[in-house]
Amino acid sequence: MKKTLIITGGAGFIGSHVVRLFVNKYLDYRIVNLDALTYAGNLENLKDIENAANYTFVKADITDAEAINSLFAQYQPDGVIHLAAESHVDRSITDPNAFVQTNVMGTANLLNAALHHWKNNFEGKRFYHVSTDEVYGSLGETGFFLETTPYEPQSPYSASKAASDHLVRAYGNTYGLPFVLTNCSNNYGPNHFPEKLIPLFINNICNKKPLPVYGDGKYTRDWLYVIDHARAIDVVFHKGGNAETYNIGGFNEWQNIELVKLLCEKMDEKLGRAPGESAALISYVKDRPGHDKRYAIDATKINTELGWAPSVTFEEGLAKTIDWYLANTEWLNNVTSGEYQKYYEAQYHN
Ligand code: NAD
Ligand code: DAU
Repeated sequence: MKKTLIITGGAGFIGSHVVRLFVNKYLDYRIVNLDALTYAGNLENLKDIENAANYTFVKADITDAEAINSLFAQYQPDGVIHLAAESHVDRSITDPNAFVQTNVMGTANLLNAALHHWKNNFEGKRFYHVSTDEVYGSLGETGFFLETTPYEPQSPYSASKAASDHLVRAYGNTYGLPFVLTNCSNNYGPNHFPEKLIPLFINNICNKKPLPVYGDGKYTRDWLYVIDHARAIDVVFHKGGNAETYNIGGFNEWQNIELVKLLCEKMDEKLGRAPGESAALISYVKDRPGHDKRYAIDATKINTELGWAPSVTFEEGLAKTIDWYLANTEWLNNVTSGEYQKYYEAQYHN
């Protein structure tokens, strides 16, 4: 094998698309998927490549420094693509410590292991940290997040991601650890856990349950199809400059309420329901505390320097996403049974 890469969080939403892309595209790389399989991790996401010769799954927790160190000794990776994280803002509001443990301490453990194993020869090594646009805080009506925008995280989730970004850059600056970092906007697509807006609303529309829009619904997000994020990660991993940061976005801003209305319209068409049937399920609920008003990415740098651009329009991506959920009801039923019901009760019924 030409290279060994550890991809953390590879059983999650974005991670599974990154693992699939790398396993299928780089037959001469050994891809080690390191994941703790929390509620958000699901090996069903990778059924199609689980027996590939260049793929290995390892169940491990990044908060366990000893385990991480031994895995580095065992696999001797040339690169790490780090996606493992607690990723849901609402959960960070009810349990911030879990986010500090995984996102901050877990990242520190990976950095320490990488440094320990690579410090005698950094040649050909790369620590790729996958981060979010939420570290920049919230925008007003105008403007965009640039790579130079100062950090101003507002939720325990984004604060923990910001801390991990700072640690990665500090290890680069202090010890010379080779790294690259990206901050991406909201992803959507197949395998998205139905605690996040789009898959939660698709699931509720299917089950004719209320669609809980937070506050006045006039919050804005910039949506990117998950496979385009995976493509961007591939480009940055292979072509991005050392110690550089790239913003990744969809050039695709939507106010939540407008997005929800579009989703309702498309779902009515797909399900053969009368126009307006799903929109009647919209229900305005208590706002998310500290809710960031608007995110919008300026992705000029990755576009002009590395030639990346989204390949899928929002209309195409949303249609593919809806089709995937309608064709994968077993996946949806499996992840929404058990623990999910308790989470849903606590989040939406008090
Ligand atoms: P996800 O919640 O779907 O998946 C997270 C994965 O990490 C799961 O497989 C889970 O089992 C694993 N994991 C969690 N804690 C772990 C631990 N302690 N040790 C090992 N594995 C652990 O998340 P996602 O939406 O796929 O996000 C992946 C990464 O991308 C995160 O770092 C997130 O901050 C970042 N990101 C997400 C988005 C988005 O819109 N979803 C946008 C930008 C950046
Ligand atoms: O911007 C990137 C970030 O996008 C990632 O770093 C996070 O991991 C990811 O979860 C996502 O964060 P958001 O908080 O923007 O995503 P979420 O799907 O939770 O919410 C999107 C918008 O929809 C937000 O304004 C809150 C609103 N919302 C969400 C839910 C779950 C609702 O109105 N009702 C809901 O039930």
